[in-house]
Amino acid sequence: MFIDIANLKKSYRTGEVVTEVLKGIGMKLDKGEIGVILGPSGSGKSTLMNILGGIDRGDSGQVLVDGIEINQLNDGKLTDYRRGDIGFVFQFYNLVPNLTVGENIEVVSNISKSPLNTDEVLAAVGMQDKKHRFPRELSGGEQQRVSIARAIVKNPKLLLCDEPTGALDYDTSRSILQLLQQVNKKYGTTILMITHNAAIAAMANRVFRLRSGEIVEETVNQTVVPAERIEW
Ligand SMILES: Nc1ncnc2c1ncn2[C@@H]1O[C@H](COP(=O)(O)OP(=O)(O)OP(=O)(O)O)[C@@H](O)[C@H]1O
Ligand SMILES: [Mg+2]
Repeated sequence: MFIDIANLKKSYRTGEVVTEVLKGIGMKLDKGEIGVILGPSGSGKSTLMNILGGIDRGDSGQVLVDGIEINQLNDGKLTDYRRGDIGFVFQFYNLVPNLTVGENIEVVSNISKSPLNTDEVLAAVGMQDKKHRFPRELSGGEQQRVSIARAIVKNPKLLLCDEPTGALDYDTSRSILQLLQQVNKKYGTTILMITHNAAIAAMANRVFRLRSGEIVEETVNQTVVPAERIEW
């Protein structure tokens, strides 16, 4: 198993109040698979993803990613893991506004061990002709394409997407989902995606439904639906 989480717990303390956000999560995903996490607001989806990505830490339990127990890494090693192995895509693109499209990608490739070629990833996301534009000169969907290019240029082992289509209209959302499926095929990147949209689950190999910090349902899709055939 590429991702193997067992009995993961996480609480946050605000003042005197301790809230248990993850109450013993177990989940597994194979290399090269697409996983989708569904669940209501506040159920712990982003918390789980942030721990997997090395942005946050679990309190207890096991979080194995490609054989590395990331809950046990010291701060420096955790930073190396996050920088080297993980690509992030967020709902609001987080591009650097005063850098061009090409520069936004090169900032990441310059500090990566074995980056892909910038022009290749721009072509892969269909943005090669906008390399010299600034983010404000792009539509939301185009900015999300650039943020996906930035996430994959380091050739990450794991691509974590937190509501990647949350700010996009229907047609643009579908084209971004197709792009993620293409990235999964072309580079063999394992992808874990959070969404509120249950229809999107059809493009995943495994679907995890989270409620109040627990996985209440796991589904394995025997057939994965191409993103262009998903409608809602
Ligand atoms: N840094 C923090 N400090 C205190 N509480 C936190 C912190 N981060 C998250 N929480 C709490 O943990 C719970 C789960 O948050 P999380 O962001 O994981 O939910 P989510 O499932 O991603 O929700 P959404 O769909 O709205 O993004 C929420 O009740 C939230 O208030
Ligand atoms: Mg969230």
